[in-house]
Amino acid sequence: YGADVIDSVTNAWLLASVFAIVIAALAGWFASKSVTRPVLVLESATRQMEQGNLSVRVALQGERQQEFLSLADSFNGMAAQVEQTVSTLREFIADAAHELHTPLTALLANIELAHDEKNASARTRYLRRAQEQGQRLETLVQSLLDLSRIEAAESKSGFAPVDVIQLVREVGEQFASRAEQANRLFSMKLPEERVAVQGNETQLRQVLSNLLENALKFTPAGGWISLHLERASDQITLTVSDSGIGIPPDDLSNLFERFHRGRNASEYPGNGLGLAIVKAIVNAHQGDVTVQSEPMLGTSIAVSLPVA
Ligand SMILES: Nc1ncnc2c1ncn2[C@@H]1O[C@H](COP(=O)(O)OP(=O)(O)OP(=O)(O)O)[C@@H](O)[C@H]1O
Ligand SMILES: [Mg+2]
Repeated sequence: YGADVIDSVTNAWLLASVFAIVIAALAGWFASKSVTRPVLVLESATRQMEQGNLSVRVALQGERQQEFLSLADSFNGMAAQVEQTVSTLREFIADAAHELHTPLTALLANIELAHDEKNASARTRYLRRAQEQGQRLETLVQSLLDLSRIEAAESKSGFAPVDVIQLVREVGEQFASRAEQANRLFSMKLPEERVAVQGNETQLRQVLSNLLENALKFTPAGGWISLHLERASDQITLTVSDSGIGIPPDDLSNLFERFHRGRNASEYPGNGLGLAIVKAIVNAHQGDVTVQSEPMLGTSIAVSLPVA
């Protein structure tokens, strides 16, 4: 009887053990299945991206584990960001090459013409045109360099307190004589007290001169240009206004894009980089820039910067 009891206990125990092992194996198999499947999907997407397919996205159909769903989500976010950056860069390079190509072709053509020309005065004319195209190229390359330097994070390291009133006064006074010579009425209004902004002086000077440059270019002789600086408690606002040709409403939303030139600009020289540089500098200074414009009446561009 004792042996019977031992036997049946042993059997039951054996049965329970086998059962436990089978259950554990099955559970393990299911668990590993549910872990490896999303990992494989993610891995395959990463590999495809590595091989240059930037439009790949992960879809984990039927997945219930929140961790995998949010991993897939952040992968998709990252992939979208990479794709967007690469396409912006490609577009930029294509635009830059196109913009460089036009003056370069004209420069080469004029040199060629000058080379074959016997008449001295005609030759000088060709050479002068070649020189103008060379200068255009130089401005363009300089603007492109400025843009890339501003956008590289390293340039932010040189920030220091800048006396903006002093800076605006200097740039404004230099501009006043140019405006007067060109027969545009120029006025300037600045606060009395000293105001400091944390920033890069050269870049802030460039913001102002690009805005004044546009105002002068797009305002016919006899018009006016004004430069105002106002201080609120925690920011300053610098406004350049003019009575010029104004900006068509359709162009307002793209004004700050690189190489964007308004429909109003076709008869005026320029590369469409001035405002892109303004925007990049203002962004780097945690500021804001807004435009108000009315075709035929004039334009007003305001830059706000936090005070130091
Ligand atoms: N004060 C203004 N009055 C009228 N249009 C303006 C004014 N400022 C800017 N714009 C419009 O915005 C566009 C972009 O200005 P932006 O300064 O970037 O380029 P640009 O002056 O044409 O060329 P660049 O500055 O490279 O010489 C201009 O082409 C023009 O259409
Ligand atoms: Mg400009």
